[in-house]
Amino acid sequence: MSNKEIELSEEELLKIEQELKSLEEKEKKSVTKGKLERDVTRISTGIPELDRALEGGVPKGSWIAITGEPGTGKSILCMHFAWAGLKAGDPVVYVTTEAEFRDIVRQARMFGMDFEQYRIHDISSAKELTETPNIVVIDIFGLLKIARQISESIPTDVETARKRRFAALDIQTLIAAIQEAYKILGVLKEGGKSPMRHVRLIIDSMSAFWADKPAMARKYSYELKIAAHRENVTTYLVSQYAMTTKSTFGFGLEHIADGVFHLWMDDVESSKEVVRYMIIKKMRMTNHARTAFKVEILPGKGFTLEPLK
Ligand SMILES: Nc1ncnc2c1ncn2[C@@H]1O[C@H](COP(=O)(O)OP(=O)(O)OP(=O)(O)O)[C@@H](O)[C@H]1O
Ligand SMILES: [Mg+2]
Repeated sequence: MSNKEIELSEEELLKIEQELKSLEEKEKKSVTKGKLERDVTRISTGIPELDRALEGGVPKGSWIAITGEPGTGKSILCMHFAWAGLKAGDPVVYVTTEAEFRDIVRQARMFGMDFEQYRIHDISSAKELTETPNIVVIDIFGLLKIARQISESIPTDVETARKRRFAALDIQTLIAAIQEAYKILGVLKEGGKSPMRHVRLIIDSMSAFWADKPAMARKYSYELKIAAHRENVTTYLVSQYAMTTKSTFGFGLEHIADGVFHLWMDDVESSKEVVRYMIIKKMRMTNHARTAFKVEILPGKGFTLEPLK
């Protein structure tokens, strides 16, 4: 990708590169500290074959990037992860920029996961909460609501406010929305920022936040990780496109993730059918299967894996 394509000047690129360096340093420090103190507790992915391939599940507190082209099963993988959480009694935060949560519920039901058995709260809803929900949903309307709230909360003159109006798809808006979801789930200590119990966080997808500025993928990923990476939060982050190493900034999300599930399919024009695959490309803190799996998405069952050989 050339600098021209992403429409950034040399000066802007240099500035981002400097910011990235300091973010990288900050991230390294916080991750190393957390890692040394951490025992590896396994968190189920909701897919038995995948849990086995990971020696029990993903390490608690990890950031997992799910990369792949359209229709490879990324969103379904997220549904299984959320469903396993609900069944285990974990509070769930589900950010969906792609689809309405109603459609996710409908799709999940086809695979035998009935989200409506649990208390669902939409962050954009004005409804008074009577009970603590099991799952908080943040869709584009929820992000819009939070963006308005933070724009209005900054005391400033009209001109500055006009210039700095938070957008629904700003990383800062996402961070604030996640924090609000933790509050609603009742997992924060008074005035605290880190959940006191294990939470599952799903962001489907991150690509929406850098759709018009792919060169910012890595910077935004760092910003989010520094603000939201917590010992007690295991996160799935979907990225529609695996950024190639040719890009000015290398990999985006994959770079900062503790684990990468990569999904792809055979070229449909030559295979004349949809044949899907998945590989655990990386997973820090654990041994894992290193060969690809064949993926089948089955009615009543959802995402299933089979060893290739
Ligand atoms: N009820 C079903 N039974 C079997 N397969 C299904 C069913 N519903 C959906 N699928 C398959 O799952 C695919 C969609 O998977 P999913 O939505 O997880 O893809 P994705 O990787 O998130 O794609 P995108 O990048 O477009 O969001 C469909 O294209 C279809 O092949
Ligand atoms: Mg999807």
